[in-house]
Amino acid sequence: MKTHKIAPSILAADFGNLQRDIEMVNQSEADWFHIDIMDGVFVPNISFGMPVLKAISQHAQKFIDVHLMIVDPDRYIKTFADLGSNMLTVHYEACTHLHRTLQAIKAAGMQAGVALNPHTPIDLLKDVIQDIDLVCVMSVNPGFGGQSFIKNTFNKVAELKELILSKDADTLIEIDGGVTDKNAKKLVQTGADILVAGSFVFKSEEPIETIKELKSLSF
Ligand code: DX5
Ligand code: ZN
Repeated sequence: MKTHKIAPSILAADFGNLQRDIEMVNQSEADWFHIDIMDGVFVPNISFGMPVLKAISQHAQKFIDVHLMIVDPDRYIKTFADLGSNMLTVHYEACTHLHRTLQAIKAAGMQAGVALNPHTPIDLLKDVIQDIDLVCVMSVNPGFGGQSFIKNTFNKVAELKELILSKDADTLIEIDGGVTDKNAKKLVQTGADILVAGSFVFKSEEPIETIKELKSLSF
């Protein structure tokens, strides 16, 4: 089986012990930090903003994958680059000029990702897929951790993989929401390159071991 990456979602960390949880991810076999920024407008929840991301990037020793669940993300592209983001993912549903936004993210020195809500069809990306470094397929409705995985995600991943291959693109496929030992293996077999996991990692008794299991898919 091909290698896949694990990206623990810091949204599920203990914010009273944030540095401890960041160090846990540093020490683990996780590949990326997944950082969820919510504005209370695009999604019905507010997570955290720039000062917290600044603190995270000071301690994080791995690739920083920022998932913006905000309206009009163009306003903050430079800010997120300055805060140490390596990947900046915007929502398809939040961008009127998606191609322009992707160009601006790359011009700021980051990789560019696009997230799709569960109701948003894959084929809307067909004319822009070659310009996207990562597609984040939302497997829950964005806004909260700890929700149940939507099974139609498997069909979307298969369709996205087909689109990427047909366009000869090198876009990565990320899955975000409700990832557990019950769906991880099948997601990777279907084409997922990156698995985001929040609750499954941080609510586990032994998060380092849980990350290791997700990485090796040895359940
Ligand atoms: C949801 C966020 C996810 C969330 C995943 O809007 O984008 O990254 O933290 O959390 P779990 O793994 O608990 O579903
Ligand atoms: Zn996310």
